[in-house]
Amino acid sequence: MPGVTDRVVIVTGAGGGLGREYARLLAREGALVVVNDLGSARDGTGFGTAMADKVVGEIRAEGGAAVANYDSVATGDGARSLIDTAVREFGAVHGIVNNAGILRDGSFAKMDEENWDAVLRVHLSGAYHVTSAAWSHFREQGFGRIVMATSTSGLFGNFGQANYGAAKLGLVGLMNTLAIEGRKYDITVNAVAPMAATRMTADIAPADLLQKLPPAHVAPVVGYLVSDECDDTGLVLIVGGGSVQRVQLFANKPVLFPEVPTVDEVRENWSRITDMSDAQPGVNPAG
Ligand code: NAI
Repeated sequence: MPGVTDRVVIVTGAGGGLGREYARLLAREGALVVVNDLGSARDGTGFGTAMADKVVGEIRAEGGAAVANYDSVATGDGARSLIDTAVREFGAVHGIVNNAGILRDGSFAKMDEENWDAVLRVHLSGAYHVTSAAWSHFREQGFGRIVMATSTSGLFGNFGQANYGAAKLGLVGLMNTLAIEGRKYDITVNAVAPMAATRMTADIAPADLLQKLPPAHVAPVVGYLVSDECDDTGLVLIVGGGSVQRVQLFANKPVLFPEVPTVDEVRENWSRITDMSDAQPGVNPAG
């Protein structure tokens, strides 16, 4: 079965922005798409059915297959109900694009617990809940495709986004282990750090940059990652504005101390310890 034809793919947060583009592209490529969105504002407050319904209407108008789902990914009950929607309406679930997200920016000095928790709940726990609810389906059918929405703010840091960056790099950590655990069941897990003009970035990036970043540019990479043909797993890709780039963690050759070093010995070797000129892709020494 080529590409995503007749594959049931859930796109979370697909009522606008990038998720909408992912859902529309996947439907055009022949997937049966569950358009999940709880219709919130950018900060996660509010609820509405109109956003998901609109995207389902757009897909159907183009001759594609889609159903709406309005559950929040931030709870186990919501995620299970989302998976139930896919199974009830289309008979299976083959792919998940964990795209739903909110923003509660603020410098760390001003970041209260509520804004910390809210962002981790949607991005990181949301991906956990939805993936967890689908995992047994994937294992039983010996097939699953998962894409995490990470961010350069998590990979490299960004002022005012401690909560968001922690959640986004947390998703890479989740991906790394799921990629290992999923391998023997043909479950792949990859991450995309998009760059796109959406309501999320509207007042964050400069207008002339945003003009070059239509969200549609990101969708084909997501489309490939969820396809049957792509069996790569554990990749992180930065995608936007016509550019697709892989990111990977590297580690240098270790500096070895036969005995417990003194603080002075650590200081003396610091330039060797921090020198990355001979770095190679990192692997888990315990793995
Ligand atoms: P967006 O705000 O247009 O889309 C996010 C969608 O998620 C919204 O439609 C919202 O209603 C939905 N949502 C929020 N909480 C939800 C919940 N609990 N359950 C279900 N749906 C929920 O923003 P955008 O830019 O399209 O973002 C999509 C993803 O890409 C996010 O995860 C974001 O963090 C990530 N991203 C976007 C970047 C960009 O340049 N636009 C950069 C890096 C990451």
